[in-house]
Order: sequence, then structure tokens, then C-alpha cells
Amino acid sequence: MSSLRPQPADRTERELETSLRPKSVSEFVGQRTIIEKLRIFVQAAKQRGEALDHVLLYGPPGLGKTTRANIIAAEMGTTLRSTSGPIVERKDDLAAILTELQPHDVLFIDEIHRLNRVVEECLYPALEDHKIDILIGDGPHAKSIKLDLAPFTLVGATTRAGMLSGPLRTRFGISLRLDFYSPDDLHQIITRSAGLLKVEITEEGSRMIAERSRGTPRIANRLLRRVRDIAQVRHDGVITKSVAVQALDLLEVDSRGLDSPDRAFLACLIEKFGGGPVGLNTLAVALSEDEDTLLDVVEPYLIQAGLLARTPRGRVATSGAYEHLGIQPPEVLPSVEPGDMFNTTA
Ligand SMILES: Nc1ncnc2c1ncn2[C@@H]1O[C@H](COP(=O)(O)OP(=O)(O)OP(=O)(O)O)[C@@H](O)[C@H]1O
Ligand SMILES: [Mg+2]
Repeated sequence: MSSLRPQPADRTERELETSLRPKSVSEFVGQRTIIEKLRIFVQAAKQRGEALDHVLLYGPPGLGKTTRANIIAAEMGTTLRSTSGPIVERKDDLAAILTELQPHDVLFIDEIHRLNRVVEECLYPALEDHKIDILIGDGPHAKSIKLDLAPFTLVGATTRAGMLSGPLRTRFGISLRLDFYSPDDLHQIITRSAGLLKVEITEEGSRMIAERSRGTPRIANRLLRRVRDIAQVRHDGVITKSVAVQALDLLEVDSRGLDSPDRAFLACLIEKFGGGPVGLNTLAVALSEDEDTLLDVVEPYLIQAGLLARTPRGRVATSGAYEHLGIQPPEVLPSVEPGDMFNTTA
């Protein structure tokens, strides 16, 4: 996949990303309703002297799940402990993390849908009654004892809400779905990041990058850094509208923000499979790509942009996809229910 993909690529990229991450509500751009709700819940919990209820954050990568987890801990005035689903392999790993928590701390579990069954079941009593069963000793003399835990808040993040088990999902008192950002919000994010990176950018230059950032803050920041490189080497360092357009063209990010893997996905769907419906696994094989990447990274934005529909019979290219690629659509397109056009979370 291209380097513009939303996952943090290498260490330098990750460090840069951390430096641009908003640390407080005041630095956080957009999605005011979610932020307002969180502020009220945090304030109410603090007034009652309780831990905040458990929070589930779900949505495509790069929209600010980790950022929000950090902000929740900052607003609560407590510490954030981070881990992720695949790292917590055994019950003991979980017990070690949970027993370290101080009252009202925030435990962030990224990719929570990848927790294994045993660990997940061990988490339930911790979430409900702040207790955990641990086994002392081995063999026939092993004894199970209940340990009391400090009241804490679990913040779980996932790109796959659909893969969470029912019992786990119902233990989150607050469940927030993250949506793509508007070009106006992305423009503000780019302007803020440009300030932090000391890059000179005009309003039009910033708006141009914002429009092509696939509604995703992480992509906006990444495009800003790549455009900055091009502005520096090919121009005088200032990102104006024309410099941004030239740079984005060079980066093969088109007018709707699609990059080459996005276009390859749509072209494959249309040219090899007559526009669908076709199963995701078939598309993944044809593109030599893994299904998870297509599901989490490529598809949500294409659906949001109205170029793709997820139907019960498989993926279908919309008339907008034919138009965008400049391909003549067939006279009759496969039928798509309105719900298939909004189904951006798997
Ligand atoms: N609302 C926002 N305002 C400003 N910048 C933001 C906002 N949300 C995200 N960002 C920027 O986008 C980057 C990615 O956000 P973050 O790492 O929180 O996404 P994520 O949803 O956790 O992604 P993943 O699913 O890959 O873990 C952050 O480094 C931050 O700079
Ligand atoms: Mg994250």
C-alpha cells in the first residue's frame, strides 16, 4: 500500500504524529458534539468522585481514537495506561496491568476486537465489579482468589465494532462512533499543524490539502509534510494553492483525495468484475491485498464518498465511481439499497 495510507509508517512518522497530537480539548478540532458529550460525562463523574464509565471509540483509522483516549485521561486529571488487544495474550498479562491501576485511571486498549476470549472473559468482572480472579500456585494446590481493583475507566478503540462480542460491547456505558471530518475542520487541523511544524502555508494552500485528505486528520498531516518537502525542493518553501496542486498531483492524490490503491480498487471492481456485486475475498485476491486493509482502510472512505456500496451480495461500484474513473457505466447498474451506501463501519 502507498505511503499515504493512514497507519503510522515508521518511527519518525510516529514521533511526528505524536508531536502533532492535540493534548487537550481546546486543541482538538471539530466533532464538537462528541467532545461536548465527553466533557459532560467527565465533569459529572468528577463531581460524583467516581471513575468515568467505560468508553468505546470506533471508526476508521486516523480519525482520533488514540487522541481522544489521551484527552479523556487529561480531562479526568488521571494517568493513561495504554496497551492493545494482541499484546495482552494471557490472563496474567491482564492481571498485571489491572492491579497497577490507580483510582480513576484510564486504561486504553487499542484494537480491542483482537483480545482473545480467555482474556476478554477475565475482563468482565473487572469492568463490572472492579474485581479480578487470579490463580495462585500450580497444579492441585492452585487456588483462585478474588482481588479488588481500583475503580478505573476502560477506553476501548476499534476499527471493527462488528467484531466485538455482545457481552463486551454491552459493558461500555459510553459508545462513540467517529466520523470523517469536514474539509473546514481539516483546514483548521492543517493550519494548526503547519504552525507547529513552522511551515508557511496560505489559506488556499491549506484548503486544497484539506479537500484531498479523505476526511482523515492523519492523512491531512501526512500530506502536509509531503507537500512541504516538495514546496521546499521545487519552490521557495511556501505552500500556496498552486504549489499544493502540483505537489498533490505528483503524489498521485486526485481531486477527490483518492490515491493509487483507491483507484486500483475501483478499477478492479469495474474492469474485472463488471462493477460487482463481488465478494471482498475475491477482490482481495485480484488486488493481492489483504482483506483487513481493504475493509478498514480503503473501503470506508470510498463508501463515504458515494463511490462504493457494501451490499449483502458483495461490493458494488456506484455511477459516481464510473464517472470518477471516466468509464462509461452499463445501462443498468446493480440495485443498491440506501443502507448499503452508509455502511462505513464493518
Ligand atoms: N480532532 C483532531 N484535531 C486535530 N488533530 C487530530 C484530531 N484527530 C486526530 N488528529 C491527528 O491525527 C493523528 C491520528 O490520530 P489518532 O492516532 O488519534 O487516530 P486513531 O483513530 O487512533 O487511528 P488508528 O485507528 O490508526 O489507531 C494524530 O496524531 C493527530 O495529530
Ligand atoms: Mg490509534
